[in-house]
Amino acid sequence: MIEVKGLHKSYGGFEAVKDVSFQVAPGTVFGFIGPNGAGKTTTIRMLSTLLEPTAGTALVDGHCVVNYPERVRQIIGYMPDRFGVYEGIQVWEYLEFFAAAYKLPRGRRRAIAEEVMELTDLTPLKEKLVSELSKGMRQRLCLAKTLIHDPKVLILDEPAAGLDPRARIEFRALLVELSRMGKTVFISSHILTELSGICQEVGIIEQGQILACGSVESIARALSPSRRVRIRVLRGAAEAVEWLKKRPEVLEAAADGETVRATLQGGEEVVPEIVKYLAGLDVPIAGLEQEHHNLETLFMQITKGAVA
Ligand SMILES: Nc1ncnc2c1ncn2[C@@H]1O[C@H](COP(=O)(O)OP(=O)(O)OP(=O)(O)O)[C@@H](O)[C@H]1O
Ligand SMILES: [Mg+2]
Repeated sequence: MIEVKGLHKSYGGFEAVKDVSFQVAPGTVFGFIGPNGAGKTTTIRMLSTLLEPTAGTALVDGHCVVNYPERVRQIIGYMPDRFGVYEGIQVWEYLEFFAAAYKLPRGRRRAIAEEVMELTDLTPLKEKLVSELSKGMRQRLCLAKTLIHDPKVLILDEPAAGLDPRARIEFRALLVELSRMGKTVFISSHILTELSGICQEVGIIEQGQILACGSVESIARALSPSRRVRIRVLRGAAEAVEWLKKRPEVLEAAADGETVRATLQGGEEVVPEIVKYLAGLDVPIAGLEQEHHNLETLFMQITKGAVA
């Protein structure tokens, strides 16, 4: 749905985006993660047809952002990182105004505004003046506006910045719902943990370059090919450890009461192999758990001075 190849953007002599490539499949939620100044907004503005690339191509639903900007604008809903809203009108008026701006049929505008208010939980606030809304409410209004023309692709630049913890959770739930409705969601954030739960894929950018791209699990695996497992046995933990140490894929193993902790190298397939091996040795396994990668550590590992 989004295809970016060799994208560059220079501001004068400064290259803010350097050879960025990635793909976002239809219907997925893609997290674009990076620290301040990484080039997220610059990339997003190029995808949204607001900024012309210095080099490279970006296609949205097959349409080139440079050659067919009008076509792309109909397909995307773009929510900028900073936005102004007209203050002196009510929430419903604001949305109907944008329904008109998108030239939606006059007779349908009210119903469409009602639908997006329902989706974004703005219905109870529909009569409020925009000037009376809190920051979080404005954020929702901006998202509602982004949805008014029923775009296939949502491009959201740090939409959750400044929201309180409950609002963030609700916002994530809303993104999941939009994804279920079949929309492709491209969303930026500074924080990997904030998005990892809802993104099928992430791209990590720093100093204008993509450092890693793919599912969080595949990135984690590429960085640390070992995995840690905890196996709870009914008896014989010490013997199980001795047997495990004989296996080439077991880097280390130790018993902790009735729990065996082991570090394994290799893909996911080594886990059932180890279970089969232990079961064959008559070790009664009561449970097995894989320790999850610590996402913050992962993020720090990827971005720690990796680019000169
Ligand atoms: N109009 C501009 N002129 C010159 N340099 C710019 C301009 N816009 C952005 N930059 C520079 O490009 C780099 C990338 O900025 P960008 O806004 O894309 O980063 P970002 O990843 O969105 O950061 P943040 O997380 O702070 O929003 C920064 O070094 C910034 O100073
Ligand atoms: Mg930005």
